[in-house]
Amino acid sequence: MKHLTHIRDLGPEGVETILAQAAAWKGKAPEPLFLGRILGMVFFNPSLRTRASFESVMLRGSGNAIVMDVGSGVWKLEDRPGAVMNGDRAEHIKEAAPVLSRFVDMLGVRTFSAGGDDEQDEVDPVISAFRRHVTVPLVSMESAREHPCQGLADMLTLRENFGSTKKLPVTLTWAPHIKPLPKAVPNSFLLTAAAAGCEVRVAHPPGFELHPQVRAEAEAYAKATGGSITYTHDQAEALAGSHAVYAKSWGPATRSAHTAGDVSALLASHADWMTTRKTLEQAAADALFLHCLPVRRNVEVADDVLDHPSSRVIDGAENRFHVQRSILSWLLSA
Ligand code: CP
Repeated sequence: MKHLTHIRDLGPEGVETILAQAAAWKGKAPEPLFLGRILGMVFFNPSLRTRASFESVMLRGSGNAIVMDVGSGVWKLEDRPGAVMNGDRAEHIKEAAPVLSRFVDMLGVRTFSAGGDDEQDEVDPVISAFRRHVTVPLVSMESAREHPCQGLADMLTLRENFGSTKKLPVTLTWAPHIKPLPKAVPNSFLLTAAAAGCEVRVAHPPGFELHPQVRAEAEAYAKATGGSITYTHDQAEALAGSHAVYAKSWGPATRSAHTAGDVSALLASHADWMTTRKTLEQAAADALFLHCLPVRRNVEVADDVLDHPSSRVIDGAENRFHVQRSILSWLLSA
């Protein structure tokens, strides 16, 4: 039985398989790939793109989807082994995952980081608990460590614009925000770009380092694919010659050491990292702009970037559909 909860489930070879199938099907009339199949979708956190795109994949593929919002119509779920369940979490994933597996053919789970503990995010406790207890294929719809569907959609967007991602110079640049955000999206961009052979530059202010295990994993993929990864605190240095600029906010590496007020002040102190047209002008002349969405306009990214013809944020969101159709088909294949 296959699962896709982390990019390591695919590795560079699997990334190629998913992207090749997604590209081959894109633009063709949907086939009844999921006839008689049901995808169960468990949301611990809100979503627009993930929810609508997975549901659309199933419906357009002649299948169906059951959407469950944890704590709102569905019991709050416990993930901790051995927990004394005397709080508000009425059901354990140990029961919920195998029970849901009896009703559906595949299960998707969205569960954000609890925040502030990168070591805990490495463990990825909720998606890992589902993985241990499901009896059908499991797909991550974003967890504490990664958002693999997003990373794969981003690579499809790059490939359809540039033809290839081999040694393509791309910059992942940190962006300001009103609150510290999880690292799942930047982790996934780094991992999938490395697995797709890109020349990845990561730019962020001091103190916003990604976890060493994520960086080591990405390095191994880059080594295998002929790609490369560099890190800098100098946004302009990263942007020089980049053909794609991916902006994303994430919280500091040592957030547990900060008070909430400290973190707000830290984020505010880097407001000049917002991506503007001036930022984009430091990249290659044909540089495209990408962001996973949702985006806070004029905090993370300026209007003049999002509304510019070089923005691919809407095409990138559409590509969630195409890669997820490929992923679900792969999960069901022998
Ligand atoms: N990019 C993304 O996952 O969007 P949603 O949070 O709206 O699903």
